[in-house]
Amino acid sequence: MTLTKKSIGDEITTKNYNYLRTCNKMTKKYSSIRTKLNIDVNKTTDKGLANLTHYLQNSKNGVSQYFRSHAETHLASLHEELNILHEPDFQYYLPIKWDIPFPPTANPKFDFIDLFAGIGGIRLAFQNLGGKCVFTSEWDNYSKKTYEANFGEVPFGDITKISEKEIPDHDILLGGFPCQPFSIAGVTKKNALGLAHGFLDETQGTLFFDVARIIKHKKPKAFMLENVKNLVSHDKGKTFKVITETLKELGYSLHFKILDGKHFVPQHRERIIIVGFNKAVFKGKEQFEFPKMSETKFAIKDILEKEVDKKYTLSDHLWNYLQEYAKKHKEKGNGFGFGLTDLNGISRTLSARYYKDGAEILIPQNGKAPRRLTPRECARLQGFPDTFIIPVSDNQAYKQFGNSVVTPLMQAVGKQIIQAVKSKL
Ligand SMILES: C[S@@+](CC[C@H](N)C(=O)[O-])C[C@H]1O[C@@H](n2cnc3c(N)ncnc32)[C@H](O)[C@@H]1O
Repeated sequence: MTLTKKSIGDEITTKNYNYLRTCNKMTKKYSSIRTKLNIDVNKTTDKGLANLTHYLQNSKNGVSQYFRSHAETHLASLHEELNILHEPDFQYYLPIKWDIPFPPTANPKFDFIDLFAGIGGIRLAFQNLGGKCVFTSEWDNYSKKTYEANFGEVPFGDITKISEKEIPDHDILLGGFPCQPFSIAGVTKKNALGLAHGFLDETQGTLFFDVARIIKHKKPKAFMLENVKNLVSHDKGKTFKVITETLKELGYSLHFKILDGKHFVPQHRERIIIVGFNKAVFKGKEQFEFPKMSETKFAIKDILEKEVDKKYTLSDHLWNYLQEYAKKHKEKGNGFGFGLTDLNGISRTLSARYYKDGAEILIPQNGKAPRRLTPRECARLQGFPDTFIIPVSDNQAYKQFGNSVVTPLMQAVGKQIIQAVKSKL
């Protein structure tokens, strides 16, 4: 409903009318809605904000039905709490001007869901390819804060508590699920009891099980799962076997490969990427190839900031400790110790523990102790553009970028996936 003099009644003065019109205009910008409705993921972990922001992002497509009723209830409770007098009606807020770095795709070519979303490195890649995210889940509140600041959407929380029925249909499922060790001892036990079992049963209680149950129920055309390289060799390869057999059992043909981010950024980062295509759609005949990797031409010096605060320089105490520690371990013939980076070369893998001492990637400095990377440099090391907002503390930012992905690598794989599925979209 557009605000007109008629609709608000004759008794309202022109001054009030102009005021209300301004308010109405203001609310259309996402940043104004955020302020007005106090959208702040620090304060809540419930589903209210997730439903509300998912609704606002999807109000124009069929997906909105999944979020509407909870979004309405949440909007009503926010209005009451914040003493906002007008009716809790979405018309006050729609359509929204998305003044955030990575707004929802206007005319999407495909839709996808973003599981174990972290700060949205995979989302960024698939949005760049023309996709629209229709559902996202991440349980860490600090990551949610970063996600919302950049994408204007608050992820749903713990995936183990979300029914697959609550998730909208989508073309592609995406997720970098945490690698939880699990054993297949249960197979033998069930065999001994003479019970029938599928591989899906074997993954119960793991986060991979949650990925699998969503694939089973939603049957996306394709999926892409990302994980640490060691997943392949974990438990002598048994874990990976259970994962691949489960995905096959669900009716997907698989392609997997270990890829290194160093072809896109100055960082050595190897990850296993598993891509699956729904056999009911592609009959196992999809034309998919992992992207060809070009020669590395990146140097760490290209991602460094010009001015860096002295707080990032290691204290003499820590620098001495790291050198002593490395020396001791070298004598014993093990361990790499700290990683003093060659500025013309590439860095080691940025990990979520970088915030502890920064030892794995240190930047040499003339005449003083080396420094760690700044959060912005970590973002660049993962291929995030400088428009990406970092709204959290340094420690949280280090954890978030360490957990994230080399986004241009995800985009290169994504491009190949879209190429393979495009005739079925
Ligand atoms: C390896 S990180 C993925 C990061 C992501 N790809 C990105 O670009 O930032 C795994 C994420 O899963 C989240 N996570 C772990 N258990 C979860 C659960 N039960 N429900 C939802 N998210 C979970 C973690 O908080 C973490 O952010």
